[in-house]
Amino acid sequence: MVKVGVCGAAGRMGRTILEVCRDTEGVIIAAGVEHTESPVLGMDVGDVAGIGRQNVSMVADISSVIDDFDVLIDFTFADATLDNLRACQAAGKRMVIGTTGLSDVQKDEIRAAGRDCALVFAPNMSIGVNLCFKLIEMAAKIIGEDNDIEIIEAHHNQKKDAPSGTAVRMGEIIADTLDRDLKECAVYGREGLGAVRDKKTIGFETIRAGDIVGEHTVMFACAGERVEITHRASNRKTFAVGAVRAARWLMEKENGLYDMQDVLGL
Ligand SMILES: NC(=O)c1ccc[n+]([C@@H]2O[C@H](COP(=O)([O-])OP(=O)(O)OC[C@H]3O[C@@H](n4cnc5c(N)ncnc54)[C@H](OP(=O)(O)O)[C@@H]3O)[C@@H](O)[C@H]2O)c1
Repeated sequence: MVKVGVCGAAGRMGRTILEVCRDTEGVIIAAGVEHTESPVLGMDVGDVAGIGRQNVSMVADISSVIDDFDVLIDFTFADATLDNLRACQAAGKRMVIGTTGLSDVQKDEIRAAGRDCALVFAPNMSIGVNLCFKLIEMAAKIIGEDNDIEIIEAHHNQKKDAPSGTAVRMGEIIADTLDRDLKECAVYGREGLGAVRDKKTIGFETIRAGDIVGEHTVMFACAGERVEITHRASNRKTFAVGAVRAARWLMEKENGLYDMQDVLGL
């Protein structure tokens, strides 16, 4: 049995993760954490997620439930995730981090924490997106140098960070494969009069609209043809299933920082 704590438990992802935990054999919902001003504090996490009573109260202080769970799944925002990471690191607890929009300094802190606890950190927990990461790497190797590369992503209108963590990861994979520095070659949106496109750049376009769950296309275009690798998520469950799978997988692992490619054996 894996006892799972969920941070951001009242959020879009948190509620879906609670539902997947309830429906997954061998997983117990052991804690739900929200922020100190949250109106759901003290409520049963199952009532908050609409999945039936779980007899677990929503709390704000992670230290009050740190002994209750084996793995914390955190889909919140950057500063909250880092606070939770420090708590899990101090207690040697495992953690699955799905939060995106972290700074380089915050990502470095996550990497360093892998010395003290077992972590899965991935901007996208869906199996399909992780397969796309591999396909993109292959395409970049074969046609990347000769093509214009654009990454187009679309998400719902409440998403806080842009471009998405998945789009950034796609850019990093392409840049690494082509021996480029993403910080130098990324171009974010375009407007007005400018120089014509430099083939060495990687373009990012961001759409925020309605209730789009998450869509990513990487386009490799040259004279005469173009290749597009597209992933469309139609339901948040795909990320939640990946996160719970990562939590169970982590139980067998030593301290260290892992990503979904490790979890999926890719
Ligand atoms: N890796 C993946 O596969 C994947 C997939 C989807 C989303 N994400 C990422 O996951 C994160 C959450 O996405 P979402 O759509 O679920 O957002 P969301 O609906 O805004 O959920 C975040 C939740 O965290 C709560 N929260 C804020 N501060 C907190 C704190 N200090 N402690 C505990 N909880 C806190 C929020 O409460 P309030 O609303 O009251 O502020 C909210 O309930 C984003 O970074 C998103 O990009 C990752």
